[in-house]
Amino acid sequence: MPETWANVSGIDLHLELAGTRVRAGLEAALRGAVRSGRLPPGIRLPSSRALATDLGIARNTVAEVYSQLVAEGWLTAQTGSGTCVASRHVLGPPAAEQARPPAAVPRYDLRPGVPDLAAFPRREWLATARKVLAAAPDHLLGYPDPRGLEPLRTALAGYLARARGVTADPGHILICAGFAHGLAAVCRALRADGARTLAVEAYGHQDHRDIAARSGLTLAPVPVDGLGVVIDAASGADAALLTPAHQFPLGVTLHPRRRREVAAWAGVVIEDDYDGEFRYDRQPVGSLQALAPDHVIYAGTASKSLAPGLRLGWLVVPPRLLDAVTAELAAGPSGLDQLTLAEFITSGGYDRQIRRARLAYRRRRDRLTSVLSGLGLQVSGISAGLHAVVEFSRTARECELLARAAGRGLALHGLETYRAPAAARDRTGLVIGYARPPEHAYTTALARLAAVLAPDEPAAPPSVSSGVVAGVSRSLDVIRTSVNTAEGPER
Ligand SMILES: Cc1ncc(COP(=O)(O)O)c(C=O)c1O
Repeated sequence: MPETWANVSGIDLHLELAGTRVRAGLEAALRGAVRSGRLPPGIRLPSSRALATDLGIARNTVAEVYSQLVAEGWLTAQTGSGTCVASRHVLGPPAAEQARPPAAVPRYDLRPGVPDLAAFPRREWLATARKVLAAAPDHLLGYPDPRGLEPLRTALAGYLARARGVTADPGHILICAGFAHGLAAVCRALRADGARTLAVEAYGHQDHRDIAARSGLTLAPVPVDGLGVVIDAASGADAALLTPAHQFPLGVTLHPRRRREVAAWAGVVIEDDYDGEFRYDRQPVGSLQALAPDHVIYAGTASKSLAPGLRLGWLVVPPRLLDAVTAELAAGPSGLDQLTLAEFITSGGYDRQIRRARLAYRRRRDRLTSVLSGLGLQVSGISAGLHAVVEFSRTARECELLARAAGRGLALHGLETYRAPAAARDRTGLVIGYARPPEHAYTTALARLAAVLAPDEPAAPPSVSSGVVAGVSRSLDVIRTSVNTAEGPER
């Protein structure tokens, strides 16, 4: 029997009437559409006459099918309101759904990687998008320039030079759909250019290692110590993926001496400046790219400063690699989003948002550090970014605390999540992201964290606001309190 498009209540619905028996085929097709959710609970079906006309079948057949499905509980029929899809409580969940235990959704999430999405500047962004759309000439709605739209590249050149010290000509800037997209293009371009080995920090983002490995590059983990990445250990590699401003996840800022070593290193450096805007304790550490623009590819993203769902990122690429990386980028983000970000930057909205967010995250960081110091714990990686690290001397401690946190509805990550598989298992601890919970949930998230970390897990989470868990005696075996003490002033 042919597939048919029926116009159901004004909504196009694809009904595949299987088999040769029209009635059975229509029954099965409607049941399938309800079960899969394509016909959601409450939606009104067309009259039997209208559906029969759409499908080219007898009206009686449709009426009989409706009656049958009403009898089975899939549909409801009421005088005056027609035939509707029954609500879920009548139908009950499909069998497969009943059998599967619901996925445990953590109530409180202190994993790193995502900013406070509730703080996205919806009103300002929307006003900017409206303004941009009203003014955009038609040709800007065509296929975007693969390098990214010129207004955004120009706006970013100014912003990056001013805020991150990047040496950036708009012609060397490429727009990508977030860092992950840009990284994939860069790795493929490097591989095509003959690179074989990419050095990666021993602790880093597994997704990024996967992206690099998929391009055909061999990964070589290099250690990170109190001064940052030990670039000398990457001598055999053709390129390196680094997070100099705020090592992810350990949080150390690359020491000035190491910065000079990296700048003088022979290979291509991919500088992931994922949270470069969020520096709290001193003047922002400028980009590494400015020291060696001919062999550093600078990468930035709006994922922390605005929202990861925008999928907006940027690369500043040395001229000799520009065409190769552009060719690998293929399709980038929506042209309208690019224009909106360009206008947001030019109008000062982006700077305002960053200043607001920096202040809010700094307060959260201070509250977190005061909870941790109340427990006698030492925290590192806090001079920048949206996460902090507490290290321990025993691996078992990390597993134990993660399990305890999960039991309290609190999601956390351990350092082990970030260790490159081939790197030595030499550190153990928790990576605590303080940006993710909405403001109203942060106090409870901190209280739960305090309860998890407290030596004698109290029955009720202590109140964070009153006394910041002071008085809880310290017994956790904390080590490496000095990760950031090596951060000397820029020399
Ligand atoms: C180390 C690191 N780099 C970059 C990013 C941003 O990636 P994207 O721009 O693809 O969202 C993240 C996000 O979590 C990250 O953890």
